[in-house]
Amino acid sequence: EQIEKGGYEHFMLKEIHEQPNAVIDTYRGRMLVNEGIIRMAGVDDHIEKFLNANRIIIVACGTSWHAGLVAEYIFEDLARIPVEVEYASEFRYRNPIITDKDIVIAISQSGETADTRAAIQLAKEKGAFVFGVCNVVGSTISRESDAGAYTHAGPEIGVASTKAFTTQITVLTLMALKLGKANGNVSASDYHMHLQELALIPEKIKASLTSDAHIQAISDIYKDSANFLYLGRGFNFPVALEGALKLKEISYIHAEGYPAAEMKHGPIALIDEQMPVVVIATKRGHYEKVVSNIQEIKSRSGKIIAIVNEGDVHVKELADHVIEVPDTLELLSPLLTTIPLQLLSYHIAVMRDCNVDQPRNLAKSVTVE
Ligand code: AGP
Repeated sequence: EQIEKGGYEHFMLKEIHEQPNAVIDTYRGRMLVNEGIIRMAGVDDHIEKFLNANRIIIVACGTSWHAGLVAEYIFEDLARIPVEVEYASEFRYRNPIITDKDIVIAISQSGETADTRAAIQLAKEKGAFVFGVCNVVGSTISRESDAGAYTHAGPEIGVASTKAFTTQITVLTLMALKLGKANGNVSASDYHMHLQELALIPEKIKASLTSDAHIQAISDIYKDSANFLYLGRGFNFPVALEGALKLKEISYIHAEGYPAAEMKHGPIALIDEQMPVVVIATKRGHYEKVVSNIQEIKSRSGKIIAIVNEGDVHVKELADHVIEVPDTLELLSPLLTTIPLQLLSYHIAVMRDCNVDQPRNLAKSVTVE
């Protein structure tokens, strides 16, 4: 097992650090930047289906559901196709409206999640085209889907999903870009610009990982907190949900993720000097608004841990701690902002002596209801 961990103390840490290469493996052979081509057989072979679809319904659970939420923002922005994101467990039992003009995308690392399997079964019965985004090759969902794309993240052993999330977002971004170009919503120059930016992401993930020691020091300060709040807006709202889920799962600290602007509709009542609030405050998209949310937290004595872009000055003046990530397109920023949140939950869990790779009560894949 030590050999499998490749010198890391835990699989989760290894998998966090594998993300630069995992993302490269995800787009290798698919994204040809110089030629300006995205090749995805599962989409190419059914392009008419995609171009004539009325909407996309994404079904998933847990972290994969969070990747689905990010994808909703990306698909609607780039491809202008309406997207709904559903918890597979709710979808399967609520008599959903599904037609043969719908495309159901099932996202699942393991490809074995019982609720996601049942959701695609239902979708198929109603005539929808089912596209699977799975990591495990040959898994049940990948076999039961009409078409699909593997994430190629490599084995994910830690129960807390890390590289599965970033590679799912990568696959879904490629799909959205491809479809946006095909249906005329993404101009040739925007398309190229997105490809070039996506190609820079692995190096930028590497740069984000260099904050590890700094994040460890922050973790030491907050490891005994009873609660955490995570806030983000736009493309980074699902990242806030994912950050909170990671912390809950492996450190057993109660954490909630919220869209930053929703704070004043309830969670702000929780804020006092005992409450660490992790705020994603990167430059592009709603920056000023998030800064004003940070001011509100500060005036209630909340402790602010902000994820900012390199060179940020504004948030630095207000926050108790800042963690820097490189700048990128707003749409791609979840691939970077999620990295410090993974490290934060990892270090806190280690400091609390928790079983990081196999947290209590959790299984890697939930194959029963
Ligand atoms: C993630 O950290 C969790 N362990 C869990 O939420 C997981 O993402 C969920 O069970 C879905 O699994 P899947 O991607 O294999 O379908």
